[in-house]
Amino acid sequence: MKNDNNFFWGAATSAYQVEGGIKNDWSAAGFDAGEASDHHNRFKEDFDLAKKLGHNAHRLSIEWARVEPEEGKFDIKEIEHYKKVFASLRENGLEPFVTLWHFTNPIWFSKLGGFENKENLKYFERYSEVLSRSFPEIKYWVTINEPMIYAMNAYLRGLWPPQKRSFLGYLGAIRNLAKAHKLAYKIIHSNISSAQVGVAKNNTYFEAAGYNPWNFLLKWGADWWWNKRFLNKIRNYQDFVGFNYYFHNRIKGFKFNQNENRNVSDLGWEIYPEGLCRVLKDLRKYNKPIYITENGLADAKDEKRAQFIKEHVAWMKKAKDEGVDVRGYLHWSLIDNFEWDKGFGPRFGLIEVDYKTMERKVRRSVVVYRDIIESGIRN
Ligand code: FCB
Repeated sequence: MKNDNNFFWGAATSAYQVEGGIKNDWSAAGFDAGEASDHHNRFKEDFDLAKKLGHNAHRLSIEWARVEPEEGKFDIKEIEHYKKVFASLRENGLEPFVTLWHFTNPIWFSKLGGFENKENLKYFERYSEVLSRSFPEIKYWVTINEPMIYAMNAYLRGLWPPQKRSFLGYLGAIRNLAKAHKLAYKIIHSNISSAQVGVAKNNTYFEAAGYNPWNFLLKWGADWWWNKRFLNKIRNYQDFVGFNYYFHNRIKGFKFNQNENRNVSDLGWEIYPEGLCRVLKDLRKYNKPIYITENGLADAKDEKRAQFIKEHVAWMKKAKDEGVDVRGYLHWSLIDNFEWDKGFGPRFGLIEVDYKTMERKVRRSVVVYRDIIESGIRN
Protein backbone atom coordinates (compact mmCIF):
# COMPACT_ATOMS: atom_id res chain seq x y z
CA MET A 1 0.00 0.00 0.00
CA LYS A 2 2.11 2.88 -1.23
CA ASN A 3 1.53 6.65 -1.10
CA ASP A 4 -2.10 6.26 -0.25
CA ASN A 5 -2.98 9.59 1.25
CA ASN A 6 -6.62 9.19 0.35
CA PHE A 7 -7.18 6.06 2.34
CA PHE A 8 -9.85 6.38 5.02
CA TRP A 9 -8.91 5.17 8.48
CA GLY A 10 -11.32 5.40 11.35
CA ALA A 11 -14.00 3.70 13.37
CA ALA A 12 -17.74 3.13 13.29
CA THR A 13 -20.71 3.41 15.64
CA SER A 14 -24.48 3.27 15.29
CA ALA A 15 -26.98 5.65 16.85
CA TYR A 16 -28.96 3.35 19.11
CA GLN A 17 -25.83 1.64 20.37
CA VAL A 18 -24.13 4.81 21.56
CA GLU A 19 -26.36 7.89 21.67
CA GLY A 20 -28.73 7.28 24.59
CA GLY A 21 -32.25 8.60 25.15
CA ILE A 22 -33.87 6.83 22.20
CA LYS A 23 -37.28 5.18 22.14
CA ASN A 24 -37.73 2.80 19.23
CA ASP A 25 -38.83 -0.75 18.45
CA TRP A 26 -35.88 -2.16 20.42
CA SER A 27 -36.61 -0.27 23.62
CA ALA A 28 -40.28 -1.21 23.20
CA ALA A 29 -39.28 -4.87 22.95
CA GLY A 30 -37.32 -4.68 26.22
CA PHE A 31 -33.86 -4.15 24.74
CA ASP A 32 -33.50 -0.75 26.27
CA ALA A 33 -30.17 0.96 25.65
CA GLY A 34 -31.10 3.71 28.14
CA GLU A 35 -28.40 6.34 28.17
CA ALA A 36 -26.10 4.03 26.17
CA SER A 37 -22.70 5.80 25.99
CA ASP A 38 -24.30 9.26 26.10
CA HIS A 39 -22.76 10.03 22.73
CA HIS A 40 -25.71 12.31 21.95
CA ASN A 41 -24.27 14.78 24.45
CA ARG A 42 -20.61 13.85 24.22
CA PHE A 43 -20.06 13.55 20.48
CA LYS A 44 -17.57 16.41 20.45
CA GLU A 45 -15.40 14.77 23.06
CA ASP A 46 -15.57 11.47 21.16
CA PHE A 47 -14.62 12.99 17.81
CA ASP A 48 -11.83 14.94 19.43
CA LEU A 49 -10.42 11.62 20.69
CA ALA A 50 -10.84 10.02 17.26
CA LYS A 51 -8.83 12.83 15.77
CA LYS A 52 -6.10 12.38 18.39
CA LEU A 53 -6.00 8.71 17.46
CA GLY A 54 -5.14 9.70 13.91
CA HIS A 55 -8.50 8.93 12.27
CA ASN A 56 -9.59 10.75 9.12
CA ALA A 57 -13.06 9.18 8.73
CA HIS A 58 -15.93 8.08 10.93
CA ARG A 59 -19.03 6.02 10.28
CA LEU A 60 -22.17 6.71 12.28
CA SER A 61 -25.92 6.35 11.84
CA ILE A 62 -28.95 8.57 12.08
CA GLU A 63 -31.71 7.37 14.37
CA TRP A 64 -34.93 7.33 12.37
CA ALA A 65 -37.03 7.33 15.56
CA ARG A 66 -35.44 10.62 16.57
CA VAL A 67 -35.94 12.48 13.32
CA GLU A 68 -39.42 11.10 12.58
CA PRO A 69 -40.90 10.15 15.96
CA GLU A 70 -44.42 10.18 14.51
CA GLU A 71 -45.29 9.19 10.98
CA GLY A 72 -44.77 12.19 8.69
CA LYS A 73 -43.74 14.56 11.50
CA PHE A 74 -40.07 15.32 11.19
CA ASP A 75 -38.35 16.87 14.16
CA ILE A 76 -36.33 19.86 12.95
CA LYS A 77 -34.44 20.06 16.24
CA GLU A 78 -33.09 16.56 15.78
CA ILE A 79 -32.11 17.24 12.18
CA GLU A 80 -30.27 20.34 13.41
CA HIS A 81 -28.57 18.19 16.01
CA TYR A 82 -27.18 15.86 13.34
CA LYS A 83 -26.04 18.90 11.36
CA LYS A 84 -23.92 19.86 14.36
CA VAL A 85 -22.63 16.31 14.65
CA PHE A 86 -21.51 16.30 11.01
CA ALA A 87 -19.97 19.77 11.34
CA SER A 88 -18.02 18.56 14.35
CA LEU A 89 -16.70 15.60 12.33
CA ARG A 90 -15.50 17.95 9.62
CA GLU A 91 -13.86 20.28 12.16
CA ASN A 92 -11.87 17.30 13.35
CA GLY A 93 -10.88 16.29 9.84
CA LEU A 94 -13.12 13.20 9.89
CA GLU A 95 -14.98 12.31 6.69
CA PRO A 96 -18.52 11.23 7.64
CA PHE A 97 -19.92 7.91 6.43
CA VAL A 98 -23.60 8.20 7.26
CA THR A 99 -25.82 5.15 7.72
CA LEU A 100 -29.55 5.71 7.23
CA TRP A 101 -30.73 2.55 8.89
CA HIS A 102 -28.83 0.40 11.38
CA PHE A 103 -31.32 -2.21 12.68
CA THR A 104 -33.74 0.15 14.47
CA ASN A 105 -37.22 1.36 13.54
CA PRO A 106 -39.52 4.02 14.90
CA ILE A 107 -42.32 2.38 16.86
CA TRP A 108 -44.98 3.60 14.40
CA PHE A 109 -43.07 1.96 11.52
CA SER A 110 -42.77 -1.35 13.32
CA LYS A 111 -46.48 -1.26 14.18
CA LEU A 112 -47.21 -1.00 10.47
CA GLY A 113 -45.23 -4.19 9.89
CA GLY A 114 -41.70 -2.78 9.43
CA PHE A 115 -39.69 -4.05 6.50
CA GLU A 116 -41.78 -7.17 6.18
CA ASN A 117 -44.52 -5.11 4.58
CA LYS A 118 -43.68 -3.72 1.16
CA GLU A 119 -46.34 -1.01 1.52
CA ASN A 120 -44.00 0.57 4.08
CA LEU A 121 -41.17 1.21 1.68
CA LYS A 122 -42.64 4.59 0.86
CA TYR A 123 -41.87 5.69 4.41
CA PHE A 124 -38.24 4.73 4.09
CA GLU A 125 -38.14 6.51 0.76
CA ARG A 126 -39.50 9.69 2.32
CA TYR A 127 -37.06 9.43 5.22
CA SER A 128 -34.18 9.11 2.71
CA GLU A 129 -35.54 12.09 0.80
CA VAL A 130 -35.71 14.29 3.89
CA LEU A 131 -32.24 13.33 5.04
CA SER A 132 -30.49 13.71 1.73
CA ARG A 133 -32.12 17.10 1.30
CA SER A 134 -31.14 18.10 4.82
CA PHE A 135 -27.52 17.01 4.56
CA PRO A 136 -26.17 17.86 1.10
CA GLU A 137 -22.70 18.11 2.67
CA ILE A 138 -22.56 14.32 3.14
CA LYS A 139 -20.82 12.42 0.37
CA TYR A 140 -20.70 8.83 1.68
CA TRP A 141 -24.05 7.20 2.44
CA VAL A 142 -24.68 3.70 3.71
CA THR A 143 -28.38 2.99 3.27
CA ILE A 144 -28.88 -0.33 5.08
CA ASN A 145 -26.68 -2.09 7.60
CA GLU A 146 -26.31 -5.88 7.37
CA PRO A 147 -29.64 -6.83 5.78
CA MET A 148 -28.99 -10.58 6.00
CA ILE A 149 -28.05 -10.50 9.69
CA TYR A 150 -31.09 -8.40 10.48
CA ALA A 151 -33.54 -10.53 8.52
CA MET A 152 -32.17 -13.68 10.12
CA ASN A 153 -32.28 -12.41 13.70
CA ALA A 154 -35.57 -10.54 13.41
CA TYR A 155 -37.63 -12.87 11.21
CA LEU A 156 -36.06 -16.33 11.40
CA ARG A 157 -34.48 -16.73 14.83
CA GLY A 158 -37.07 -14.64 16.66
CA LEU A 159 -34.30 -12.85 18.55
CA TRP A 160 -34.49 -9.20 17.51
CA PRO A 161 -37.66 -7.13 17.18
CA PRO A 162 -40.21 -8.01 15.83
CA GLN A 163 -39.00 -11.44 17.13
CA LYS A 164 -40.70 -13.54 14.48
CA ARG A 165 -39.99 -17.02 13.27
CA SER A 166 -41.29 -17.09 9.74
CA PHE A 167 -39.45 -18.21 6.65
CA LEU A 168 -41.71 -16.14 4.42
CA GLY A 169 -41.21 -13.12 6.65
CA TYR A 170 -37.46 -13.65 6.38
CA LEU A 171 -37.52 -13.77 2.59
CA GLY A 172 -39.89 -10.81 2.44
CA ALA A 173 -37.68 -8.70 4.69
CA ILE A 174 -34.61 -9.39 2.53
CA ARG A 175 -36.53 -8.55 -0.63
CA ASN A 176 -37.91 -5.34 0.84
CA LEU A 177 -34.58 -4.22 2.27
CA ALA A 178 -33.08 -4.56 -1.20
CA LYS A 179 -35.92 -2.48 -2.61
CA ALA A 180 -35.54 0.05 0.18
CA HIS A 181 -31.88 0.38 -0.71
CA LYS A 182 -32.64 0.97 -4.38
CA LEU A 183 -35.22 3.63 -3.58
CA ALA A 184 -32.82 5.40 -1.24
CA TYR A 185 -30.01 5.09 -3.78
CA LYS A 186 -32.07 6.93 -6.39
CA ILE A 187 -33.31 9.60 -4.00
CA ILE A 188 -29.89 10.35 -2.57
CA HIS A 189 -28.45 10.69 -6.07
CA SER A 190 -31.25 12.94 -7.18
CA ASN A 191 -30.47 15.27 -4.27
CA ILE A 192 -26.68 14.97 -4.15
CA SER A 193 -25.17 14.28 -7.54
CA SER A 194 -21.67 13.54 -6.22
CA ALA A 195 -22.90 11.15 -3.51
CA GLN A 196 -21.37 7.71 -3.10
CA VAL A 197 -24.03 5.26 -1.95
CA GLY A 198 -23.80 1.65 -0.82
CA VAL A 199 -24.84 -0.80 1.86
CA ALA A 200 -22.83 -2.33 4.72
CA LYS A 201 -22.88 -6.04 4.04
CA ASN A 202 -21.73 -8.64 6.53
CA ASN A 203 -19.88 -11.25 4.50
CA THR A 204 -18.39 -14.38 5.98
CA TYR A 205 -15.42 -16.43 4.88
CA PHE A 206 -16.90 -19.88 4.28
CA GLU A 207 -14.21 -22.51 4.02
CA ALA A 208 -14.65 -26.08 2.85
CA ALA A 209 -12.37 -28.09 5.12
CA GLY A 210 -11.45 -31.49 3.73
CA TYR A 211 -12.13 -32.85 0.26
CA ASN A 212 -15.67 -33.99 0.75
CA PRO A 213 -17.66 -32.74 -2.28
CA TRP A 214 -20.59 -31.94 0.00
CA ASN A 215 -18.46 -29.44 1.87
CA PHE A 216 -17.79 -27.64 -1.40
CA LEU A 217 -21.43 -27.72 -2.33
CA LEU A 218 -22.40 -26.23 1.00
CA LYS A 219 -19.70 -23.59 0.70
CA TRP A 220 -20.89 -22.68 -2.75
CA GLY A 221 -24.48 -22.40 -1.52
CA ALA A 222 -23.54 -20.32 1.50
CA ASP A 223 -21.39 -17.99 -0.59
CA TRP A 224 -24.23 -17.54 -3.01
CA TRP A 225 -27.00 -17.07 -0.50
CA TRP A 226 -25.28 -15.24 2.34
CA ASN A 227 -22.51 -13.29 0.64
CA LYS A 228 -23.69 -12.60 -2.89
CA ARG A 229 -27.45 -12.74 -3.22
CA PHE A 230 -28.21 -9.33 -1.76
CA LEU A 231 -25.28 -7.64 -3.49
CA ASN A 232 -26.34 -9.20 -6.79
CA LYS A 233 -29.83 -7.81 -6.35
CA ILE A 234 -28.54 -4.28 -5.92
CA ARG A 235 -25.51 -4.52 -8.16
CA ASN A 236 -26.57 -1.71 -10.49
CA TYR A 237 -27.40 0.50 -7.55
CA GLN A 238 -24.20 0.85 -5.61
CA ASP A 239 -21.21 3.11 -5.93
CA PHE A 240 -19.14 1.14 -3.46
CA VAL A 241 -19.33 -2.08 -1.53
CA GLY A 242 -19.39 -1.63 2.24
CA PHE A 243 -18.06 -4.75 3.90
CA ASN A 244 -18.39 -5.75 7.57
CA TYR A 245 -16.06 -8.58 8.49
CA TYR A 246 -16.36 -10.64 11.65
CA PHE A 247 -16.83 -14.28 10.78
CA HIS A 248 -15.08 -17.36 9.57
CA ASN A 249 -17.25 -20.44 9.00
CA ARG A 250 -15.56 -23.76 8.40
CA ILE A 251 -17.65 -26.41 6.72
CA LYS A 252 -16.74 -29.99 7.49
CA GLY A 253 -18.67 -33.22 7.17
CA PHE A 254 -21.54 -31.28 5.60
CA LYS A 255 -21.83 -29.18 8.77
CA PHE A 256 -21.41 -25.47 9.30
CA ASN A 257 -19.40 -23.80 12.07
CA GLN A 258 -16.79 -26.50 12.47
CA ASN A 259 -14.24 -23.87 13.43
CA GLU A 260 -11.03 -24.76 15.19
CA ASN A 261 -11.43 -21.75 17.47
CA ARG A 262 -7.77 -21.50 18.38
CA ASN A 263 -8.24 -17.82 19.02
CA VAL A 264 -11.60 -16.33 19.98
CA SER A 265 -13.00 -13.02 21.21
CA ASP A 266 -14.97 -12.53 24.44
CA LEU A 267 -18.09 -13.49 22.48
CA GLY A 268 -16.49 -16.73 21.30
CA TRP A 269 -16.24 -15.45 17.72
CA GLU A 270 -13.19 -16.97 16.06
CA ILE A 271 -10.48 -14.47 15.17
CA TYR A 272 -9.53 -15.31 11.60
CA PRO A 273 -7.79 -12.39 9.84
CA GLU A 274 -6.97 -14.27 6.64
CA GLY A 275 -10.70 -14.53 5.92
CA LEU A 276 -10.83 -10.77 5.43
CA CYS A 277 -8.48 -11.06 2.46
CA ARG A 278 -10.40 -14.03 1.01
CA VAL A 279 -13.72 -12.22 1.10
CA LEU A 280 -12.19 -9.01 -0.23
CA LYS A 281 -10.94 -10.93 -3.24
CA ASP A 282 -14.41 -12.36 -3.84
CA LEU A 283 -15.86 -8.87 -3.75
CA ARG A 284 -13.62 -7.82 -6.63
CA LYS A 285 -16.24 -9.13 -9.04
CA TYR A 286 -18.48 -6.14 -8.33
CA ASN A 287 -15.87 -3.79 -9.79
CA LYS A 288 -16.49 -1.11 -7.21
CA PRO A 289 -14.37 0.54 -4.56
CA ILE A 290 -14.63 -1.32 -1.26
CA TYR A 291 -14.76 0.21 2.19
CA ILE A 292 -14.41 -2.01 5.23
CA THR A 293 -17.28 -0.50 7.13
CA GLU A 294 -16.83 -2.65 10.27
CA ASN A 295 -14.27 -5.05 11.70
CA GLY A 296 -13.56 -5.54 15.38
CA LEU A 297 -13.85 -7.74 18.44
CA ALA A 298 -15.26 -7.88 21.95
CA ASP A 299 -12.20 -7.77 24.20
CA ALA A 300 -12.88 -6.22 27.60
CA LYS A 301 -9.33 -6.75 28.87
CA ASP A 302 -7.84 -5.36 25.68
CA GLU A 303 -5.51 -8.32 25.41
CA LYS A 304 -6.11 -9.23 21.79
CA ARG A 305 -7.14 -5.99 20.12
CA ALA A 306 -3.69 -4.76 19.09
CA GLN A 307 -2.80 -8.04 17.40
CA PHE A 308 -6.28 -8.28 15.89
CA ILE A 309 -5.94 -4.89 14.23
CA LYS A 310 -2.38 -5.51 13.05
CA GLU A 311 -3.27 -8.81 11.41
CA HIS A 312 -6.53 -7.70 9.82
CA VAL A 313 -4.86 -4.63 8.38
CA ALA A 314 -1.99 -6.79 7.09
CA TRP A 315 -4.45 -9.09 5.27
CA MET A 316 -6.30 -6.08 3.95
CA LYS A 317 -3.04 -4.73 2.56
CA LYS A 318 -2.32 -8.07 0.96
CA ALA A 319 -5.67 -7.93 -0.83
CA LYS A 320 -4.95 -4.37 -1.88
CA ASP A 321 -1.52 -5.34 -3.18
CA GLU A 322 -3.21 -8.09 -5.19
CA GLY A 323 -5.42 -5.56 -6.88
CA VAL A 324 -8.51 -5.26 -4.69
CA ASP A 325 -9.67 -1.66 -4.65
CA VAL A 326 -9.99 -1.19 -0.87
CA ARG A 327 -10.25 2.44 0.11
CA GLY A 328 -10.96 2.49 3.80
CA TYR A 329 -10.90 0.62 7.08
CA LEU A 330 -13.37 1.55 9.81
CA HIS A 331 -12.91 -0.34 13.04
CA TRP A 332 -15.89 -1.42 15.12
CA SER A 333 -16.17 0.46 17.35
CA LEU A 334 -14.95 3.90 18.39
CA ILE A 335 -16.42 3.59 21.88
CA ASP A 336 -17.92 0.82 24.01
CA ASN A 337 -21.61 0.43 23.31
CA PHE A 338 -24.88 -1.45 23.60
CA GLU A 339 -24.47 -4.75 21.77
CA TRP A 340 -28.10 -5.45 20.78
CA ASP A 341 -29.59 -8.56 22.46
CA LYS A 342 -26.31 -9.03 24.36
CA GLY A 343 -26.55 -5.74 26.21
CA PHE A 344 -23.60 -3.82 27.64
CA GLY A 345 -21.33 -6.79 28.44
CA PRO A 346 -19.28 -7.03 25.23
CA ARG A 347 -16.63 -4.33 24.94
CA PHE A 348 -15.89 -3.45 21.34
CA GLY A 349 -14.52 0.07 21.81
CA LEU A 350 -11.15 1.48 20.93
CA ILE A 351 -12.17 3.76 23.76
CA GLU A 352 -13.49 2.36 27.02
CA VAL A 353 -16.63 3.85 28.52
CA ASP A 354 -17.35 3.75 32.24
CA TYR A 355 -21.15 3.47 32.12
CA LYS A 356 -21.55 4.93 35.61
CA THR A 357 -19.59 8.13 35.10
CA MET A 358 -19.57 8.09 31.26
CA GLU A 359 -15.87 8.75 31.48
CA ARG A 360 -13.85 7.84 28.37
CA LYS A 361 -10.49 6.09 28.54
CA VAL A 362 -8.42 5.28 25.50
CA ARG A 363 -7.46 1.60 25.47
CA ARG A 364 -3.74 0.84 25.32
CA SER A 365 -3.92 -1.18 22.12
CA VAL A 366 -5.13 1.83 20.24
CA VAL A 367 -1.61 3.18 20.02
CA VAL A 368 -0.94 0.30 17.65
CA TYR A 369 -3.79 1.40 15.41
CA ARG A 370 -2.54 4.96 15.45
CA ASP A 371 0.92 3.81 14.41
CA ILE A 372 -0.55 1.73 11.60
CA ILE A 373 -2.51 4.72 10.41
CA GLU A 374 0.53 6.95 10.48
CA SER A 375 2.72 4.50 8.64
CA GLY A 376 -0.12 3.56 6.27
CA ILE A 377 -0.46 7.14 5.26
CA ARG A 378 3.30 7.65 4.89
CA ASN A 379 4.18 4.53 2.94
C1 FCB B 1 -22.41 -5.95 13.57
C2 FCB B 1 -23.33 -4.77 13.72
C3 FCB B 1 -22.84 -3.75 14.72
C4 FCB B 1 -22.20 -4.37 15.93
C5 FCB B 1 -21.19 -5.42 15.52
C6 FCB B 1 -20.49 -6.09 16.68
O1 FCB B 1 -23.12 -7.05 13.13
O2 FCB B 1 -23.50 -4.10 12.50
O3 FCB B 1 -23.93 -2.93 15.05
O4 FCB B 1 -23.16 -4.86 16.77
O5 FCB B 1 -21.80 -6.40 14.74
